Amino acid sequence: MRTWQLRTLGYDGLALEERPEPQAGPGQALLRMKSASLNSRDLQVVHGIYPGSQLPLVPVSDGVGEVIAVGEGVTRVAVGDRVSPILFQTWLRGPITSSDWGQALGAGGCDGILSELAVFDEQTLVKVPAQLTDDEAATLTIAGLTAWQALFVADSVKAGDTVLVQGTGGVSIFGLQLAVAAGARVIVTSSSDEKLARARTLGAWETINYRATPEWQEEAKRLTDGVGVNHVIEVVGDHRRSIRALCIGGAISVIGYLQNLSFDGGTRGGVQETDVMGLILSNGRVLGIADGNRDAYEAMNRAIAIAGFHPVVDRTFAFEEVVEAMRYLESGSHFGKVCIRIGG
Ligand SMILES: NC(=O)c1ccc[n+]([C@@H]2O[C@H](COP(=O)([O-])OP(=O)(O)OC[C@H]3O[C@@H](n4cnc5c(N)ncnc54)[C@H](OP(=O)(O)O)[C@@H]3O)[C@@H](O)[C@H]2O)c1
Repeated sequence: MRTWQLRTLGYDGLALEERPEPQAGPGQALLRMKSASLNSRDLQVVHGIYPGSQLPLVPVSDGVGEVIAVGEGVTRVAVGDRVSPILFQTWLRGPITSSDWGQALGAGGCDGILSELAVFDEQTLVKVPAQLTDDEAATLTIAGLTAWQALFVADSVKAGDTVLVQGTGGVSIFGLQLAVAAGARVIVTSSSDEKLARARTLGAWETINYRATPEWQEEAKRLTDGVGVNHVIEVVGDHRRSIRALCIGGAISVIGYLQNLSFDGGTRGGVQETDVMGLILSNGRVLGIADGNRDAYEAMNRAIAIAGFHPVVDRTFAFEEVVEAMRYLESGSHFGKVCIRIGG
């Protein structure tokens, strides 16, 4: 079977290699992988700016596969099930623990899923909604679950609330779709009017071009008659503006650091300035987010099955085109998710 390996940092360090077929041991399931999706995190791993990566490594965390064999004692999944492995392999329920951080697919010392065949502990697998294509189902693990965790686990967004999502990448478009499905009205920001028009077709209530309107928080306040928004999906690291966009008691979910991310210079994150007075005035809440646990993943999948929406797949690349797919994600020209078809 073929598997991608990251042997040295950078795109030149990625190689498609032959390996013996893995077998399912007791408590494990063997998956024939169908599709994967890329996240900003995968680029950070390849460029060496994601903490703790030990090489060589099978890259990429998010994917869906079909169970083709199970080991002794397996009851959670059966041959023929279409399933997805969770990101933090030991985080099944409750709050995350420090030991869960070392068990995340596709980083640290934990291999990812970019292989034709892969074995997982049955406890780490969740069934995906039936209405989704393989590519759509491959987008749930990080982008979908992070938006779900922010809106409905860390916070309790409800019908009638106003949510603002920054940009039109993977997490933000899931944030738009999940919030709309819950009856919230959503403001989307983007550098592109074309992408904003597309966001409206997904149910965006209002849109703001953050290039044309750099003080977008003021526009968000104006659009909400001076009230502000209940929740900001904060993927950018623009905390001072996000705090000023909040209504009384509103929350920013601290998810990303896109404005401080540079792949050519190799930098990530950094210290964000906050707005102490803005937080005091709004009684605002700042919520740190790190994906979600298995229980949350299953709850999200039930909600997506009921709501019946389809995650947005911008483009799908062939298994042999992983470097092209990563370069495309890095360009930022996508809307929603970028996938890699592995098989089937
Ligand atoms: N904490 C967690 O659990 C978690 C989970 C997932 C992701 N993340 C982090 O969240 C961030 C987003 O991840 P992703 O996978 O959704 O990224 P992505 O799909 O690559 O998102 C890229 C999009 O973000 C927008 N963007 C980029 N720079 C921006 C800026 N300065 N201001 C406003 N928008 C900007 C652009 O949208 P337009 O083209 O529309 O302008 C761009 O197309 C990353 O930093 C990632 O590491 C964290």
